[in-house]
Amino acid sequence: MSYTIGRRKFLQLSAFTAPLLSFRLPGKAVGIFTTKPIMVSTWDEGKNVNAAAWHVLSAKGRAVDAIEKGAIYIENKISCCVGLGAYPDRDGIVTLDACIMDEHANCGAVAGLEHIKNPLSVARKVMENTPHVLLVGNGAQQFALENGFPKEPAILSEDAKKAYEQWLKKNQYKPVINIENQTAVNTSKKENGPFAPFFFEDGRPNHDTMGMIAMDASGNLSGGVTTSGMAFKIHGRVGDSAGIGAGLYVDNEIGAATSSGVGEEVIRICGTHLVVEYMRNGYSPELACKKAVERIVKLNPAKAKDIQVGFVAINKNGQHGGYSIQKGFAYAVKTAGVDKIYQSKYLQ
Ligand code: GLY
Repeated sequence: MSYTIGRRKFLQLSAFTAPLLSFRLPGKAVGIFTTKPIMVSTWDEGKNVNAAAWHVLSAKGRAVDAIEKGAIYIENKISCCVGLGAYPDRDGIVTLDACIMDEHANCGAVAGLEHIKNPLSVARKVMENTPHVLLVGNGAQQFALENGFPKEPAILSEDAKKAYEQWLKKNQYKPVINIENQTAVNTSKKENGPFAPFFFEDGRPNHDTMGMIAMDASGNLSGGVTTSGMAFKIHGRVGDSAGIGAGLYVDNEIGAATSSGVGEEVIRICGTHLVVEYMRNGYSPELACKKAVERIVKLNPAKAKDIQVGFVAINKNGQHGGYSIQKGFAYAVKTAGVDKIYQSKYLQ
């Protein structure tokens, strides 16, 4: 049996039945009102990323254009973890990963890209101008140059140079929980090696991988991720941020999700695809993220004690939520009425 009801009637019904439905389906999303446009980006710095992209969304532009604007903003800044100013791999080379996905399930990605300032824009060109999804290394760079991206010089930023020289002294590779929350300037945990500061000395917030998801005024979803990957990684290492279904997934009927943290653990569970599938099954964005985090922890509880992964998601109603393994993951939300940083809930 099927029912057809008018929009007004539906809204009236929804207003009265939502609490009841919430009661009957604990943990399931009961979206009635749609918040759009909305943009959600990882970490405190996501607030500035959202601001840089907002004019696209507020002018009823496409979510995918807003995502690219946000990426360009953060890629052009100096930080530990995004763009050419970021920390290098253990050979002293900055290699960048990025991906993008739009409302039509078009997607593009680059991995191990060197000397190119805006990797997410290159990923967008892969998406729009080629039949492929992922280009890597020299091939990705060649493609970028052919598409008019200038080749930047192989110079480390001052921050990166300092951190790399410090790391070389110990010459060890060890992922650090919430690297962006620790600082060589004000942390007492100096024995763990060089850390990116939570805030740079001039007060600018630092961050890890920048994951962005957005729904535009037309209700279409898109997302993007941009990163230099794990600091002092093995040359050639690629994390989740170039992986559609790992660091980013968008299903225009359901929602979008992105991740930050130790990419290997996200890849292992196809993390953001999993989050979207949980939302498809009716879970709220927060609970969908929580279930993905639980999946990682269940696979290896001992290892999970020492790593951080955070997921953030939005659904088709514009509801948002995040969850992480450890304390310290944050994400920024911008809508017409909200401009806020949320500390995500965490498992341990
Ligand atoms: N989440 C970023 C990376 O693992 O490279």
